Amino acid sequence: MARILVTSALPYINGIKHLGNLAGSMLPADVWSRFKRGQGHEVLYICATDEHGTPAELAAAAAGQDVQTYCDEQHEIQKRAGEQFGLSYDWFGRSSKAPNRRLTQHFAAKLEENGFIEERVDRMIYSIDDQRFLPDRYVEGTCPHCGYDKARGDQCDNCGRLLDPTDLIDPYSAVSGSRNLEVRDTRHLYLLQTRLEQPIRDWIGSKTGWQTLAKSIALKHLDEGLIDRGITRDLKWGVPVVGPDGGPRPGMEGKVFYVWFDAPIEYIGATEEWAEATGRTWRDWWRLDEGAEDVRYVQFMGKDNVAFHTVSFPATIIGSGEPWKTVDQLKAFNWLNWYGGKFSTSQGRGVFMDQALELLPADYWRWHLTAYGPEGSDAAFTWEQFQSTTNKDLADVLGNFVNRIVKFTESKFDGVVPAGGEPGDVEARYEAAIRQGIAEATEAFEAMEFRKACQAVRAVWVLGNEYLQEAAPWTAFKTDVDRAAVGVRTGLNMVALFARLAAPVIPFTAETIAASVGSSDLSWPSADEDFMAAVPTGRAIVHQGVLFAKIEDEQVAEWTARFGGADAA
Ligand code: 2FM
Ligand code: ZN
Repeated sequence: MARILVTSALPYINGIKHLGNLAGSMLPADVWSRFKRGQGHEVLYICATDEHGTPAELAAAAAGQDVQTYCDEQHEIQKRAGEQFGLSYDWFGRSSKAPNRRLTQHFAAKLEENGFIEERVDRMIYSIDDQRFLPDRYVEGTCPHCGYDKARGDQCDNCGRLLDPTDLIDPYSAVSGSRNLEVRDTRHLYLLQTRLEQPIRDWIGSKTGWQTLAKSIALKHLDEGLIDRGITRDLKWGVPVVGPDGGPRPGMEGKVFYVWFDAPIEYIGATEEWAEATGRTWRDWWRLDEGAEDVRYVQFMGKDNVAFHTVSFPATIIGSGEPWKTVDQLKAFNWLNWYGGKFSTSQGRGVFMDQALELLPADYWRWHLTAYGPEGSDAAFTWEQFQSTTNKDLADVLGNFVNRIVKFTESKFDGVVPAGGEPGDVEARYEAAIRQGIAEATEAFEAMEFRKACQAVRAVWVLGNEYLQEAAPWTAFKTDVDRAAVGVRTGLNMVALFARLAAPVIPFTAETIAASVGSSDLSWPSADEDFMAAVPTGRAIVHQGVLFAKIEDEQVAEWTARFGGADAA
């Protein structure tokens, strides 16, 4: 069995995530981890909150909290929401913890030792009243091109032109509104990515397992030409910049590393947190010279994160000259759209994880977001589509099948798996079709093609309903009880099997379905195992209630009114 390291892009600390974030990184990472664990592999799924940077500082200020308290609270909120959604991370860490600080400083020291870091002086806007340098987007003012008076320092939202903060007419601080600003010199560390271009290109070339979307974004980024990148910021909250010896660095006191420099390092840092908490070891997951050669490393993320993971983070790793494990397969997702626009945290557009769970249990969302997620292209979330797919796939196909056969067993066979009769041609035909379906689902999951995998799983569930229609044990029961017993037994074995096929995507319901046939086996089935004889005769069968309630038109109307939906277009 293989050792598989899985990471999903680390969610920013500033606020609970929306369904678009979930669908494009954490959820597929969880589904895939469950699939691989179900096959018996050793999976380590690591995630964490990405806690540094200006957005964290500003969100804390807006909440009236100091940033540490804010992050402590928000981390717990996100962790809980993830758990409620069934995200089975082995560890949900924090980029503000000591392991990440040590590792970030370590990587910077190695990069400097290898000649890939240089100190440069920048000229930046300083807000005298706020007593801080302002990152580009926190300087606002009048656009020199179109006269729009709320243009940001990086871009004008009215005319779309890219700007430099010093271009703005009458600039003011977006933090406080103060116009008491001046341009000051400030010293920063630059990572000399231009010198790493060829090694990065070679490294990307050596990666055969990446998805097309990931590879094309990486190459586009490289072809546009790498630039040396400032990796420090004038902020208080973050990993402190230190000298190569770990002591204070003259001229850079009070500065921290840029959030995108330390965030991906937290994949390693969080593994160290996990190891500390569980008494395990982390270096054999990450260091090729200490046992990680056999680890397969898979990353999940939205497409906006790909360049950081295929170019910037590799620049850190490659430039360190040390034998760190790098990503083997990178699965990137497109956008989940919300009524003609994007889900947006800052504008509160869309449905957020905590709100979703107020409406319906996690599995409803998990199925929809995995089976109809933004995989090959952007996908639109609409209430109507959510209603229609949920009602068809989960209520009509899966729920109805389990309900029918389990209830029939209760009413006609005293709630016990009946003995008697022998399976015949009909059973053989369905069994063969199911084996084929399992093979297809397995292949699609292996390839991380989630929509395809879900359709294959669904097709197997459909076979269950078709079988019951054809075998019709309720009709047979009147004339040939043995024949009815075969139908029921076959149906109940399908229930046990369907729970296993459901487990990666809808784990809560999978457990309930398995329990109805007295099973707790949620391992992933192989196409050649004898799954038609898994539930022994004589075992008690207990109906567990309705698995999925249909989503009614009234609910859709209510949710549309509450969350905008159609009106927000
Ligand atoms: O885009 C984001 O949500 C970032 N917080 C992702 C960071 S991924 C990793 F590098 F930490
Ligand atoms: Zn403009």
